[in-house]
Amino acid sequence: MKFTVAIDGPAAAGKGTISRAVAQHFGFAHLDTGLLYRAVGAKGGDPVAAARSLSPHDLARDDLRSLEAGQAASRVAALPEVRAALTAFQRDFARRDGGAVLDGRDIGTVICPDAEVKIYVTASPEIRARRRWLELGGDAAPESLADVLAQVRDRDDRDMNRADAPLKPAPDAVTLDTSEMSVEQAIAKALALISARLA
Ligand code: DC
Repeated sequence: MKFTVAIDGPAAAGKGTISRAVAQHFGFAHLDTGLLYRAVGAKGGDPVAAARSLSPHDLARDDLRSLEAGQAASRVAALPEVRAALTAFQRDFARRDGGAVLDGRDIGTVICPDAEVKIYVTASPEIRARRRWLELGGDAAPESLADVLAQVRDRDDRDMNRADAPLKPAPDAVTLDTSEMSVEQAIAKALALISARLA
């Protein structure tokens, strides 16, 4: 069975949590496409060469989740040649047998415009920044809440306003605003949307 779930949205909206829950519930494979861009940014050197030679080893680095890696990813992700080098891998993953869920910025718009289900997960910048700051340790985090909010806004601005594959909901995506939702509620909504399409 081929069945693709595309989950897009800005940083720290809850895409990863929802995607992992969806993959586990339905037995789908999951690809966090942000990790590809993070690995390209972290490799250093020429980002186009880095994207063309990306290996599983690059994706296994343990420093890819930091705020800095996120910013570097957002910068290299604005380069059309970098995006082009990563497209085929993502499309092949999406059409593997058994179903797949991919989360990112352009899955429903560019990578998988024919995905069976498209969900745009969002939340206010303030709420996303607070969640990310709490993940980083809250009061014990190396960055202040204000710094994290500034980085969230900066990344939104770059991801939404780049010329190639900017972050935006696909016309046929269902928007899930998680600002006022618990994790459980957001997951339940996503599972219900997918179950309805599978039925
Ligand atoms: O989802 P994330 O925070 O790990 O993504 C890091 C950056 O990578 C994000 O700011 C923009 C870029 N990205 C992208 O351009 N397209 C994707 N499909 C996924 C991520």
